[in-house]
Amino acid sequence: MIKIFPNIADLNNFAAEKFVELADQAIKEHGQFTVALAGGSTPKSLYQLLASKTFRDKIEWSRVSFFFGDERHVPPDDPQSNFRMANETLFQPLKILKKNIFRWIAEEKFAEIVADDYELWIWKVFTDKELHTEEDGDDEPSFDLILLGMGADGHTASLFPFTEALRETDKIAVANYVEKLQTTRLTLTFPVINNAANIIFLVAGADKAAILHEVLEGEFEPEKLPSQSVKPNNGKLLWLVDDKAAALLQDK
Ligand code: 6PG
Repeated sequence: MIKIFPNIADLNNFAAEKFVELADQAIKEHGQFTVALAGGSTPKSLYQLLASKTFRDKIEWSRVSFFFGDERHVPPDDPQSNFRMANETLFQPLKILKKNIFRWIAEEKFAEIVADDYELWIWKVFTDKELHTEEDGDDEPSFDLILLGMGADGHTASLFPFTEALRETDKIAVANYVEKLQTTRLTLTFPVINNAANIIFLVAGADKAAILHEVLEGEFEPEKLPSQSVKPNNGKLLWLVDDKAAALLQDK
């Protein structure tokens, strides 16, 4: 499902209301709301809105477990860090307790160790807290919500075109070398992303118009357009886009 908004403020308001609704539902159903945050710049204003007086009291934050869909291989105080962005816009303003924040320990020298540790941590949280309901079987953990952005090249999380991580079918968290960035990124993989109960893409700006048309209306070319591989097994997928990003969509 795709929803188009005249501006980012309207998009964020809808997204924040949806976040509240899903948090409420998850906390009622299993006492916890597990969410994997998106990095990059688009979600920044949404996180600020969630921490604002309009929304801050609508959620039982102590019941929210925050994860990250991906991270850069940098320390948590680095300007590139997705954790740092969320910390400044969401965690600090809301005084979120450390025990509710599950960040990639990306200051660790070896990216593969960061990814393996993160994978273990995710399994521990989901298994210990009985979040892994019977019907999930021994599938990947099922996040209540995964927020995703999309790059102008069609990547999502740190699943970049023609990179190794696109083909990962077992691990839920990996280190992924990205040739064009000449750097290694850290990312959740499609198996765990697609096992989420809810996935929401946040896409805004004219620079995303061409790629959004290609991803949503073009040929299925998942190696070239990784965002096309986001297809929840049983969950719901929602695209929240602004008019500028939707400008080239034929079917709207
Ligand atoms: C990251 C993100 C990445 C991001 C897209 C879009 O670590 O950069 O997780 O997948 O969502 O690159 O970024 P913008 O929102 O800045 O356009």
